[in-house]
Amino acid sequence: MSVTLALGCAAPSTDVNPSNAARRSGFEDMGASTQAMQRDDSGNPAMLWVREGEQLWARSSPDARACSSCHGELKSMRGVAGRYPAYDAHSHRPVNLATRVNLCRERHQQQRPWAAESNELLSLEAAIAMQSRGLPITPSRDRRLVPYRERGAALFSQRIGQLNLSCAQCHDERAGLRLAGSVIPQGHATGYPIYRLEWQALGSLSRRLRGCMTGVRAEPLAHGSVEMVELELHLMSRAAGMAYEAPAVRP
Ligand code: HEC
Ligand code: HEC
Repeated sequence: MSVTLALGCAAPSTDVNPSNAARRSGFEDMGASTQAMQRDDSGNPAMLWVREGEQLWARSSPDARACSSCHGELKSMRGVAGRYPAYDAHSHRPVNLATRVNLCRERHQQQRPWAAESNELLSLEAAIAMQSRGLPITPSRDRRLVPYRERGAALFSQRIGQLNLSCAQCHDERAGLRLAGSVIPQGHATGYPIYRLEWQALGSLSRRLRGCMTGVRAEPLAHGSVEMVELELHLMSRAAGMAYEAPAVRP
């Protein structure tokens, strides 16, 4: 990937900072056929995971109550994905939606947590996220999240990796320019979990972020780590008010 070269040619930006210009979902930067795939549920491969998640939601076993036995219909999760990560008082830290689901699995179902990016976890995440589709992203206002969110914002602007680039240098300063053939999006986390054509699978926001970290040759943060959740908190507040579009499709 000729990252340095492409960036070296990039013109200094004027009005592409999402904080002071119109914010734009990555959906807008995609080709027409990829957009059509996301728009039509019958053509969106992510719906396979949603259907699986709907079944898991209602499934009980001799030693575990179903999610639905405590929470009722999936509809009860309306708006939930759009306000995560949230603070978990038991573990005294913020958690993302995947970790929240696993906490229920451990605390309320007495089962071992599912592995990060496992089909079960992604399926439930997708089915829950779908209940926030079309709703505005509304970050939690819990005061306990403030220091975490601030650290996430700092990390977003910090140069990382052998390429010595920050998230902001691409997603605020160079959004809309091309990098190795693809348009650099503003980097809004409006559609997670997403079906990514490159993965040929569903994946979480942290998987996407790990991809960007590897792209600048930085050691990627671990799934569910506090630092990863801090970054996710910042991304969601940066996208506050934008419509949730999960499960999205991305190139
Ligand atoms: C025995 C009851 C019980 C079961 C079974 C259960 N949960 Fe929960 N869940 C809770 C309670 C209680 C909370 C509130 C937080 C807490 O006390 O842990 C919660 C919170 C949540 C939240 C956060 C909601 C919010 O508004 O922030 C999600 C998401 C969730 N559960 C998903 C699931 C999923 C998915 C399953 C099945 C894999 C599940 N839960 C199984 C009782 C349960
Ligand atoms: C060298 C430039 C570059 C850097 C640095 C970079 N990214 Fe990205 N990022 C991209 C490109 C290009 C894409 C789109 C890839 C594609 O669609 O093929 C992307 C995609 C994303 C997306 C997905 C947006 C969507 O529509 O779903 C998010 C979120 C994101 N990046 C966040 C980050 C964060 C957080 C960092 C810092 C840890 C970061 N990126 C660092 C170039 C970069």
